[in-house]
Amino acid sequence: MVHVLITGAASGIGRAIAHELAADANALSLVDVDADRLATVADELGAQHAVLDLADPLGPEEAVGRCWDASGPVDVLVNAAGIYPSVDMIELRAAEWDRIFSLNTRAPVLATAELARRAVAAGRGASVVNISSGAALRSRPGGGPYASSKAALEMATRAAALEFGAHGIRVNAVSPGFVAVDSTCNPVAPEYAALVNANPLGRPGTPEDIARAVRWISSPEAAWVTGEVLRIDGGSSTGVLDLPRIWPPATSTDSAHQEGNRR
Ligand SMILES: NC(=O)c1ccc[n+]([C@@H]2O[C@H](COP(=O)([O-])OP(=O)(O)OC[C@H]3O[C@@H](n4cnc5c(N)ncnc54)[C@H](O)[C@@H]3O)[C@@H](O)[C@H]2O)c1
Repeated sequence: MVHVLITGAASGIGRAIAHELAADANALSLVDVDADRLATVADELGAQHAVLDLADPLGPEEAVGRCWDASGPVDVLVNAAGIYPSVDMIELRAAEWDRIFSLNTRAPVLATAELARRAVAAGRGASVVNISSGAALRSRPGGGPYASSKAALEMATRAAALEFGAHGIRVNAVSPGFVAVDSTCNPVAPEYAALVNANPLGRPGTPEDIARAVRWISSPEAAWVTGEVLRIDGGSSTGVLDLPRIWPPATSTDSAHQEGNRR
């Protein structure tokens, strides 16, 4: 019996993860704040669902508690709910910082802690996957608070992995590059989407690209993987693709000359 719980499952990447993991799950629990879209996905998959605001201080504990009590111990928790609004650092006020961190960082950490408390008490292992972002390593104009929230989430992922490993609880992150999604709460301007799409593999990511990585890292196939951040980004994090060479590459004559100098 595998019980999989996915947050942010009403839309985008979370929805794709729900579809991907449904094949392995005997019980599937979906959580989101968007009641209508969540009900649609739950109907598609025959899943149970709970409408909750995970930015609420008690929301994450309630999500894990309700799903555990309704369908049995949770084996896999995927924390995908997240927001990525644009907030310039010069405009920043406490309320906006807290809004972003309460959902993107505090919620996955508190959900993981509640799962760990229950799993340890029951003598069971578990697997947690946090959805991070390439922004954790590289910000953009207006992306400072979001990038900071995901950088903190990656550190919390490693910290939880360190403390929970002895209990058979693995905690990893999957970090997507840009993926176009049909989101109601996370709008992206077309000109941003067009520019950010450049990557070494030459195509935009899809929610399914991310979901397949989550399926692997959450599964027993990744039994010796914990505290890891798996970057699924078409190679975006390797460096900057759209810059000219700093100096024209050496010609074959130059190379022969240098080779001669070495002899
Ligand atoms: N799309 C990308 O390019 C991209 C890249 C890197 C990381 N991510 C991350 O992937 C995750 C999913 O994002 P997405 O792009 O699929 O966006 P999305 O808007 O399609 O999905 C986010 C989901 O979170 C839910 N949600 C928002 N606030 C909530 C709350 N307070 N409580 C419960 N649920 C709430 C929304 O209703 C929605 O279903 C996020 O954590 C995001 O940071 C996305």
